[in-house]
Amino acid sequence: MAQITGKIIGLGSYLPPKVLSNDDLSKMVETNDEWITERTGIKRRHIADGIEDKSSTMAIKAAKAAVEDAGIDPKDIELIVAASTTPDLLFPSMAVCVQKALGCSENVGCFDVNSACPGWIAAFNTVQGFIESGNVKLALVVGTETLSNFVDWNDRGTCILFGDGAGAAVLRAEEGKKNEFIMRSSGNRGDCLRCENRKQPQRYDEEGFEQSTYFYMAGRDVFRFAITEVPKLIKDLAAKYNFSLDEIDYFILHQANARIIEATAKKLNIDIEKFPMTLQETGNTSSASIPSLLSTMKKDGRLKKGMKLVLASFGGGLTWDANYIEY
Ligand code: UT7
Repeated sequence: MAQITGKIIGLGSYLPPKVLSNDDLSKMVETNDEWITERTGIKRRHIADGIEDKSSTMAIKAAKAAVEDAGIDPKDIELIVAASTTPDLLFPSMAVCVQKALGCSENVGCFDVNSACPGWIAAFNTVQGFIESGNVKLALVVGTETLSNFVDWNDRGTCILFGDGAGAAVLRAEEGKKNEFIMRSSGNRGDCLRCENRKQPQRYDEEGFEQSTYFYMAGRDVFRFAITEVPKLIKDLAAKYNFSLDEIDYFILHQANARIIEATAKKLNIDIEKFPMTLQETGNTSSASIPSLLSTMKKDGRLKKGMKLVLASFGGGLTWDANYIEY
């Protein structure tokens, strides 16, 4: 019997115009282009100005592009889920900001999810649940981040890695192979990657509380976690859903570090050509990285209907997720 699943029918992405190169960073902290390129693969990242471009407005721009690409009427959208670890508003949600700006009807469910870098995959799986259960026919899944607002620009271990941006996909209920996925997390190992929420300067118990709202990351620990767990997760996904990794056209990995992607390809014994990268131009855009990469690949013609894809991401939590989908 034919199954109903959410097919990606539109993709969009947005990067703010301001670019920070490795050379620019070398004027801010003790680093250089050679070190950053060799250890991460990153050459540039885009930085939001916080006025025109914030997580909410970038989400809107990426969502508009995805809706246009899909050729749908935004009034037909029934569900919007946005993933962000760095929303500029605690509420309303980023999803509601998108709903308003796109002129969607009021007959639409809107909420945000936060699962750090794999947030877009968590949002995608949530939306697929609504679609595959027959509750929703047309949905928008957005990932949007302004990490530049939470990075300590004096810490060379983190500020070189991250960038801002947004990506979005339109999903429509169609017949096809179901969304197959594994989601994993380890709160016990989460201290190596965390960020406190912003605290107000005049809280009632102000005295004595520590103002520590920068991103904290133990880079080596996160690196080790990623190169150990991601290849294992992808192998487990193939075993659970009974497919061969050789059948996969592309492995769409979270764009954190080229060395993590290369190590994963090597451990899986798959040609690195099947692991497309945009991180050279974007840095790590957290939950925006996967939809943005998919959007770039659609624009340049690499992504074609019917292709078999593995999506995989990892990050704060710790959390790590992977999907097997047919595009
Ligand atoms: O979305 C998930 C989020 N996070 C990640 O994916 C991050 C995962 N981790 C990484 O990508 C890597 O660990 C980093 C890129 C952050 C660091 O690379 P590494 O190869 O693990 O370097 P390291 O931390 O082991 O540091 C090696 C050396 C140290 O100097 P000593 O102690 O050997 O003298 C660092 O102080 O490199 C130094 N270093 C730098 N030098 C120049 C650290 N950062 C820099 C820098 N420029 N930006």
